[in-house]
Amino acid sequence: MTKLLSVSDVSKEFAVNGRKVQALDNVSFDVTKGECLAIVGESGSGKSTIANIILGIYGATSGSLTFQGNALPTMRSKQHRRAIQLVQQNPLSSLNPRRSIGASLRLALDVHDIGNKADRARRTEELLEEVGLPKEFRTRSPSALSGGQRQRVAIARALACQSELVVLDEPTSALDVLVQARVLKLLKELKDKRGLTYIFITHDLSVVRNIADRVAVFERGKLVEIGETEALFANPQHSYTRRLIGAVPVVSREEAVLRDRIMENGNA
Ligand SMILES: Nc1ncnc2c1ncn2[C@@H]1O[C@H](COP(=O)(O)OP(=O)(O)OP(=O)(O)O)[C@@H](O)[C@H]1O
Ligand SMILES: [Mg+2]
Repeated sequence: MTKLLSVSDVSKEFAVNGRKVQALDNVSFDVTKGECLAIVGESGSGKSTIANIILGIYGATSGSLTFQGNALPTMRSKQHRRAIQLVQQNPLSSLNPRRSIGASLRLALDVHDIGNKADRARRTEELLEEVGLPKEFRTRSPSALSGGQRQRVAIARALACQSELVVLDEPTSALDVLVQARVLKLLKELKDKRGLTYIFITHDLSVVRNIADRVAVFERGKLVEIGETEALFANPQHSYTRRLIGAVPVVSREEAVLRDRIMENGNA
């Protein structure tokens, strides 16, 4: 199995009002090409910090990253910016409200020099279709879409530039449970179809069960446990993981059954 990303001994300190906050403490893990690695942990455990370092939004205080076997510096080359993409929790804040959906998608294609003008118009429509939206949506503004539709646009934008690794930071946390199930199903399909690799950050362990091949558990900046999803759930080694699994938010039985049905055959 090919190693896509390696995170080696990464630490990150922030200074807050003269006080040192250790957001990450010697974190190391690998991400294999084609897998979905979930990162879980309580609020403040360092999940978004590692995401931001992987995206090159800021650098680590110490430690290093490699991508496809080469060093991944904080100052990213165009090729690395294209290869590693982010999908955030709130697509309203990541989509420009004054730009139509089509213009946002075209911009992603322009930035990465993908195709000529005619290709880009066609690609925009194909991308919308690929994420299950009608191509007529290209003329709409983000505010005219529902939360689930906007998240589909954000996913389309992350895919526009033929990315390899998509970092998803709580991508379905703001969606209600049924919309969440449909978006998860779409993410799974796109991953298989395009051979994508995901780092999927979430609070929701039922989402992890649905989509992740492996899980990394963070506690106060440390990676305390990492393993195959089923094995980790069946036999958590670390007391923190056991507590986390014990604290799974309760969805109603009805919701859980509906969600499972959508994941299995695509309709509720
Ligand atoms: N830009 C920043 N400046 C100062 N401190 C920060 C910054 N970003 C994160 N931190 C601190 O680093 C720690 C880890 O934060 P991080 O955002 O990575 O947590 P998280 O696991 O993503 O939490 P959540 O589940 O709430 O999103 C926290 O103590 C946080 O306050
Ligand atoms: Mg976060």
